[in-house]
Amino acid sequence: SQRYRIAVIPGDGIGREVVPEGLRCLQAAAEAHGFELECTEFDFACADYWARHGEMLPPDWRDVLGGFHAIFFGAVGWPEVVPDHVSLWGSLLRLRRGFDQYVNLRPVRLLRGVRSPLRDREPGDIDFLVVRENTEGEYSSIGGRIFEDTDRETVLQETVMTRTGVDRVLRYAFELAAARPRRRLTWATKSNGIAISMPYWDERATAMAQRYPEVAADSDHIDILTARFVLQPDRYDVVVASNLFGDILSDLGPACAGTIGIAPSANINPDRTWPSLFEPVHGSAPDIAGRGIANPVGQIWSGAMMLDHLGEPAAAERVVAAIERVLDERADVLTPDLGGTGTTEGLGTAIAAEIAAGAAGRGRRPE
Ligand code: NAD
Ligand code: IPM
Ligand code: MN
Repeated sequence: SQRYRIAVIPGDGIGREVVPEGLRCLQAAAEAHGFELECTEFDFACADYWARHGEMLPPDWRDVLGGFHAIFFGAVGWPEVVPDHVSLWGSLLRLRRGFDQYVNLRPVRLLRGVRSPLRDREPGDIDFLVVRENTEGEYSSIGGRIFEDTDRETVLQETVMTRTGVDRVLRYAFELAAARPRRRLTWATKSNGIAISMPYWDERATAMAQRYPEVAADSDHIDILTARFVLQPDRYDVVVASNLFGDILSDLGPACAGTIGIAPSANINPDRTWPSLFEPVHGSAPDIAGRGIANPVGQIWSGAMMLDHLGEPAAAERVVAAIERVLDERADVLTPDLGGTGTTEGLGTAIAAEIAAGAAGRGRRPE
């Protein structure tokens, strides 16, 4: 049978609590669909590898991880001990760049059984994809401080937009939009205020739109875009944004759809030169870590996106269908962020059992 080699990095905080539930569900799907997942765990986390070596990843990380079919990642960050920019630039952001995972695909969907904080919103009203540029943009280490510790102390940080980098994420987003029933795309901009990089982004998006006449494309300034996520979420189908804007939208969207605890993401290297990385949108949540109450659905759904990427779309659909059924029908196992009193393990176990049982799916593609 087909065998996939997966690098597993649980990370810190609730990453260590939700990853086992993700693996439990993935193994149930593998068994049901007759393939194997050979998982190798790595302790690349603040509390493990960093504590011993003072680095987040070994120097040969590219060789260590580069040969896997995919990376299944929890979350890293232990801000009390390691400054966030050190831990994140030392691991997740390094992996995204080093493995050229230039698309960060983050589905946002209001699922049955989950209550939106928005008034009168029902499943179907919120169903869009955030496509986030994942290797450049506002996330840069170019810049520095001058005149330190004086009144003239000055800090500069550059935004980087390359034609290749902007075009490839736009192309990916337009291709996705063209394949969806509504064929709508909105690109986030801020060309009124950010007067160099954002007009460039608009220029490239406008040029790309001309190549996809079947897609209804428009742009929103990021400020009103956030307001419309709340007021008119049904407006959106595919939303493509620069790195920082995409980061913000991909917490706001899931919050509108009930909780960031269910939101998945796929850091994709579409060229398949390197492994892609699958992780929930949320972080290590130090405020609830160690209590066994984190919602594992974001991790499990990210696993479904990984199965789809590996070439197992039926297994991926089965996982998503199981998530939808359990959230809709099993109020007894919902975690506190979903208004329940359940536990991480209870919800993960219920979804794994549903995957194994595999009742005829109302399933759909993982994104
Ligand atoms: P966070 O996502 O960890 O937590 C934000 C809030 O959402 C917290 O109140 C938390 O309890 C809640 N929450 C998050 N995930 C949840 C889940 N699965 N179930 C229930 N509630 C959940 O964001 P933060 O507090 O800004 O960051 C905490 C740490 O995580 C920092 O070190 C940060 O840098 C890191 N971080 C890492 C990643 C990653 O590795 N991908 C992503 C975001 C943040
Ligand atoms: C995310 C996270 C990361 C990001 C942080 C932890 C660096 O917020 O994956 O959304 O900003 O990309
Ligand atoms: Mn984020």
